[in-house]
Formats: sequence, C-alpha cells, structure tokens
Amino acid sequence: METYTSIPEDLKLAVLEKIKPTEAERKKLTAVQEELASEVKAAADKLHVPDICVKMVGSAARGTWLSGTHDIDVFISFPEETPRKDLEKKGMEIAREVAKYAEYAEDRHAEHPYLNIIYKGFDVDLVPCFRVASACQLKSAVDRTPFHNEFVKTRIEGREEDVLLMKQFMRGGGVYGSELKTQGFSGYLTELLIIYYGSFEKTVKAASSWKPGQKIDIMQHSELEHTEPLVIVDPTDPRRNVAAALSLDKFCMFIDHCREFLKSPELKFFFPSRPLPVEDKEFLEILESRKSSQLAIVFETPDVVDDVLYPQLYKMEQAAASLITEYDFSLIKTGVWSGKTETVVMLELISAALPNVKKRIGPPVWVREHAQKFKGKYEGDENVFGGYIENGKYIFEVQRKYTTAKGLLEDRLLNSSLGKQVHQSVSKGFEVLEDAEICRLKDQDFRVFLRKWV
Ligand code: CTP
Ligand code: MG
Repeated sequence: METYTSIPEDLKLAVLEKIKPTEAERKKLTAVQEELASEVKAAADKLHVPDICVKMVGSAARGTWLSGTHDIDVFISFPEETPRKDLEKKGMEIAREVAKYAEYAEDRHAEHPYLNIIYKGFDVDLVPCFRVASACQLKSAVDRTPFHNEFVKTRIEGREEDVLLMKQFMRGGGVYGSELKTQGFSGYLTELLIIYYGSFEKTVKAASSWKPGQKIDIMQHSELEHTEPLVIVDPTDPRRNVAAALSLDKFCMFIDHCREFLKSPELKFFFPSRPLPVEDKEFLEILESRKSSQLAIVFETPDVVDDVLYPQLYKMEQAAASLITEYDFSLIKTGVWSGKTETVVMLELISAALPNVKKRIGPPVWVREHAQKFKGKYEGDENVFGGYIENGKYIFEVQRKYTTAKGLLEDRLLNSSLGKQVHQSVSKGFEVLEDAEICRLKDQDFRVFLRKWV
C-alpha cells in the first residue's frame, strides 16, 4: 500500500480561484433560473396546461457547476398518466412559447424531443418529462433526473467545492463527460463519488487503487449484475449503473491521473497545457525517425450530432482495423479525429506495403481428399511462385491480392460494416493519405491531435 502526503490546501485554493463561480455569477444564474421558471408557468397557463411542475435540475441547481459554463436544465414535468404524445406536443408548445424570449432555439431529440435555447447568454435545455412516483418507475430516461437532483442536493451541501475540484481534475485528465464521444465520467457520477468517499482528496486516494469490477452501492440496493469496469449503482434506481457509459480506457486513465497527481500534486493536473499543433517540418522528421507507416482516411464530416457521429466513427475505426489485419498488415494503433468539414480515421502500421508473395497453408498431405483438392487448385497456376511440404502440410506461395494498405482500403473499405451516416459520407468519396501526404491536412485542431498521435 502506497502512502501519500496530503494535497496542499493552497493548491486547492488556487484551483478554486479559477473555477468557483463568483457571487455575481451565482446571483445572475439564480435570477435567470427564476425567470425561466416563471416563463414556463406563464406559458403553461396561456396554453391551458395547468398541471405541470417546473423543476430546475443539473449542476446549476445544485451549486456544482464550473465557473464559465452556462448550462441550465429546466424540466417541465407532466402527470404520470399523460399520454406520451400529449407530453411531447404540449411540452414542446410550452418550450416554444418560452423560446420567444430567447436569442436562439433548436429542436433536439433524445428519447423524446426537447428544446435547446440560448437565453440571456445561458445554454438552456427545456425538457418535458413524466412525474413518476420513483426513478425506477421511469417512463422515459429523463424521468430519473429530478430524483438525482433530490438525492444529491441534500447530501452535497458543504461539499460543492470538492465536486468542482473533481470535475476540473477530471477535465484535466481528459475523462470528464459521459457523451458517447468521451465515454468518461458524468457530473452526477462525480457528485456520487464525492458523497460516497467524502471529499476530493479521499476520492483521488481511493481511485488510485481501483480495479475493474469496482462497485459502489450507496443505498445497498443493487438488483442486477453489471459487467462494466466501474459500477456505481444509482441511488435512485437499483437497476441502473450510473457509470455504464465509462469505457475501460477512461476508467484506467483516471486511475493513472490520480496516481500521478498524488506523487506530485500540481496545478497542471487541473489545467494541462494544450499541446502545440505539429508543423509540416516536424511531422516529416517524426515520420523519418519512427519509420512506421501512417495512413489517414479522409472524408466529409457527416452532418449529425456527436452522440450519433462518434459511435459510428469508432465503429469505422474497428472496421478499418479488422480489414487491415485480415489482409496480413500489422497494426500499431488506430485513432479518430473529426472537425467541422473533414473527418479522419488514422492508422499506424508496421508497414503499409507487403511483398507480392503470400504463403497459403493447406491441409496435411494424409487428409487425402482435401489435400489433393488444395494442390490441384494451385498447381500449374501462373500466379503461383511455388509449392512445397512443411510440417506435413502442402504450402503454396501465391500472388498476394493487396500489396498496399492504401489499395486495400480504397477497394474494400466501403464493403465493411459502417454506420448509416458515415457510410453515406464515405460513399460520396474518401481519400487515403500516406505519410508526408498527411501534411495536406492543415486544420490546427487536427495538428494538435497529430502531436498526441506521434
Ligand atoms: N444525466 C444522467 N446521465 C447522463 C447525463 C445526464 O443521469 N449521462 C442527468 C443527471 O441527473 C444530470 C442531469 O441529467 O445531473 C443534467 O446533465 P448534465 O448537464 O450533462 O450534467 P450536470 O450534472 O449538470 O453536470 P455539468 O456540470 O457537467 O453540466
Ligand atoms: Mg449541466
């Protein structure tokens, strides 16, 4: 068991100085929340929908939001027996009425529709939900949220700063956010960790010796077995794992981040410096020193939200990797980057070229029927270099179908299993850039990605 010294108070203060909302910010947010609540009620009255309640949820309602982030979650809760159709229709009518006072509004869709607006500079979600008796009787995934709020609100009082520190620490480690792009820790999950372990420091110390299978069940009411690396049973719903979206790698990145931080607690774990974009000259030098092969599959970014896009990109990354290995190329690693206009799936290979000759191993000679058939197929073929027997088996050295990874991808990538929108976009056309050709991609954010890549 390693022992660590405690985290310096002045370090925590220095972080909080940057991330804790000021009194003015707090007042402004509260005022806007109150305004929104009365706008919603007024809209409901106007539209003759008397039986709704307005609930402020999320980090803004719990005093656990990071300074400078401006999102407010407003839930419009309907009686449980409301038909889904009515909830969607009336909920959206109310939201649109409120949106008349907004700078901007956009329809969004999770399990059912909701409205995202910019209101006095705040990013506000207006979400219709059912007022169910308990979170496990939910009719829609968002119905749990008000229960989360109730659970956290009373228990987090006095520990808001620990939550802020933890959120920023996770951001610094690149593991904060439960969207499908990040597959990291959600705000609610962070709050539950602080409630369970008691403080930022205790959580960091505990997490530094987590292993996959780590389970935390605050209410001791788990009803299911889970297979995810971290299982935090939802205190409001015994069947749900709050950490279900956390990937094994983000789980381990967090463990590593905690250990490194405890070795030398410094500001950089909260605010890492952003890597500089790689310039052409430097990239060419790196290629020269690595002597591997870099391939970039480039196509137009599909016009869909990140939660739809990223799972499809990760799927394509997998598909490209299997294709490449299926045809004998050796993979070092794969990665994904997506910008406004172009998207890139990166592959690093031991080599992007293979010899013409490919070794085909046949059946043992004594398995007469199969062996003779195999021999008959290759013997005398003009694409065969030669044949012999090795370890009792017929071997033929034949002409390889794809000698370059680029040719393989150009020919077969579209036949592999891709998500709908990514398939559409790749079908319109894609390019495979190799090594120095990658310098064609000038996007500065891609160049930052490229620095981490190499
Ligand atoms: N929520 C959830 N599971 C998610 C995302 C959200 O249960 N994967 C619920 C939580 O109750 C959460 C609320 O929706 O508190 C609002 O979500 P979000 O704004 O994403 O998180 P916050 O808790 O507000 O954290 P942040 O400070 O990052 O905004
Ligand atoms: Mg929020």
